[in-house]
Amino acid sequence: MRIGVLGTGMVGRAISGKLAELGHDVRVGSRTASGDTVVFADAAAHGEIVFNCTSGAASLDALGAAGDLAGKVLIDVSNPLDFSGGGPALFTDTTDSLGERIQAAFPDALVVKSLNTINCNLMVNAAAVPGDHVVFVCGNDDGAKARTRELLGEFGWTPERVIDLGDITAARGTEHYLMLWLRLMGVVGGPSFNISVAS
Ligand SMILES: NC(=O)c1ccc[n+]([C@@H]2O[C@H](COP(=O)([O-])OP(=O)(O)OC[C@H]3O[C@@H](n4cnc5c(N)ncnc54)[C@H](OP(=O)(O)O)[C@@H]3O)[C@@H](O)[C@H]2O)c1
Repeated sequence: MRIGVLGTGMVGRAISGKLAELGHDVRVGSRTASGDTVVFADAAAHGEIVFNCTSGAASLDALGAAGDLAGKVLIDVSNPLDFSGGGPALFTDTTDSLGERIQAAFPDALVVKSLNTINCNLMVNAAAVPGDHVVFVCGNDDGAKARTRELLGEFGWTPERVIDLGDITAARGTEHYLMLWLRLMGVVGGPSFNISVAS
């Protein structure tokens, strides 16, 4: 599959590296082309599926530079983290989310929020942590979520471990979970952990 990965940080590198290893045709997008990266617009144009792995504060600008996203599955991995006040905070409130802002700004893109609750190494290798821990998806288009689930399966997230939370407003919950995730990281002693859901 042709996939564009927007972002050259840890997440973009982990996702693009794994996708290439799996045999996908991947282009990584950045503000400036260099070495193995192209500009955001070229990576997005290349992809049938596009990952947003850019800094949350810059995601709307980065996606604006990405050009025409109409009809593309846009898997949004970003988080609205804000460290400007010293400690970690979010720049969205509980009636809003970055996933929703992205869907509103690019109404013809098929936005699926996923993987943002997990460290990047675990995102692409579910077996890195033992147990039946889970990953979430949410978004307004069922077809886009189905395609996202297929890719998640290639990363080791078997169907019963992918929880569909409904439409894109569920991103409020998965993004606010970051405040707990950051505390858990301190308690666990590192980023290699995840949650499971019992009922
Ligand atoms: N680290 C994790 O394990 C983890 C886990 C879950 C979710 N996330 C989320 O995933 C996203 C990526 O995280 P990361 O740690 O890999 O990288 P990051 O440092 O948050 O973001 C790096 C990317 O953002 C782009 N960027 C920065 N400022 C920009 C601007 N003003 N305009 C346009 N683009 C800009 C950079 O572009 P250039 O390539 O041009 O420098 C780069 O590609 C974040 O939203 C983060 O919250 C991270």
